[in-house]
Amino acid sequence: MEGTKRLITSPKQKLLQTFVCDDCHQYVSQTELTIPSGPRAGERIVANYGCRCEDIKLAEAAKRKQSQLKQGKLMHKFNYYSLINNSLRDATLENFHSSDSDLKHSKEKALSYIQTFDGKQNLLFTGNYGTGKSHLSVSITKKLMEQGYECLFLSLPKLLTKIKQTYNTKGVTEDELLEEIRRVDLLALDDIGAEQQTEWTTSKLFEILDDRTGKATIYTTNLTSNELKEHVNERNFSRMMDNTNVIVMNGTDYRRRAF
Ligand SMILES: Nc1ncnc2c1ncn2[C@@H]1O[C@H](COP(=O)(O)OP(=O)(O)O)[C@@H](O)[C@H]1O
Ligand SMILES: [Mg+2]
Ligand SMILES: [Zn+2]
Repeated sequence: MEGTKRLITSPKQKLLQTFVCDDCHQYVSQTELTIPSGPRAGERIVANYGCRCEDIKLAEAAKRKQSQLKQGKLMHKFNYYSLINNSLRDATLENFHSSDSDLKHSKEKALSYIQTFDGKQNLLFTGNYGTGKSHLSVSITKKLMEQGYECLFLSLPKLLTKIKQTYNTKGVTEDELLEEIRRVDLLALDDIGAEQQTEWTTSKLFEILDDRTGKATIYTTNLTSNELKEHVNERNFSRMMDNTNVIVMNGTDYRRRAF
């Protein structure tokens, strides 16, 4: 403040006008200065003291950069930990074809889940093979990641295999893997029921579900609700059904539709 006043009263400067900037709403002293030395000595320039527009622009650019970096890191994590099929890597809501009304309905439910995402609500996609359950789940995680949420898409059978591998290889440990699963805003747990059913898998699944109590999870399964209850056991099933919207997708296998 003092500095500004001194500049205005200095003989090399002339206060032209004062006004409130339309953009930054700051009180601006528009001042004409004469460059005192150097190659441009004697040249007159006009400076807007007090205007914060330039600062705001720089801050916004820094913020954008920051969020791009964050997004990059998230993408990295997503790729690193995600045991995602090639056929699903490119899946998005945009390339999900919804020719019939059932598919449209499922897509709308996925959209509404994104729009009302509160970090708590769960989804269960159920239905026969190849109907786009995983496709929609991946798409949801991608959209929410664009919004800055941390998401993971994991196939349960592959995850369980991966956990077993951590026991006898270096690299990521089981704790790190589970910590990541616990931490993310949204976990998509794909293909529940396709894992081998053993006491170990049942208790691992319970551990995962228990860790995520109160946090959003998307489940997909080819099993009916009775089959699922039977497969994952009653306790896991009731965890999965707590605060969960069910989307039934019983269409034709997408990959066979052309025939
Ligand atoms: N409606 C759809 N529009 C575009 N691609 C689809 C659609 N449904 C399924 N697919 C594609 O077909 C394949 C099988 O779908 P997927 O989501 O894995 O089936 P599900 O999980 O129900 O068994 C994937 O490659 C997916 O991208
Ligand atoms: Mg699937
Ligand atoms: Zn301004």
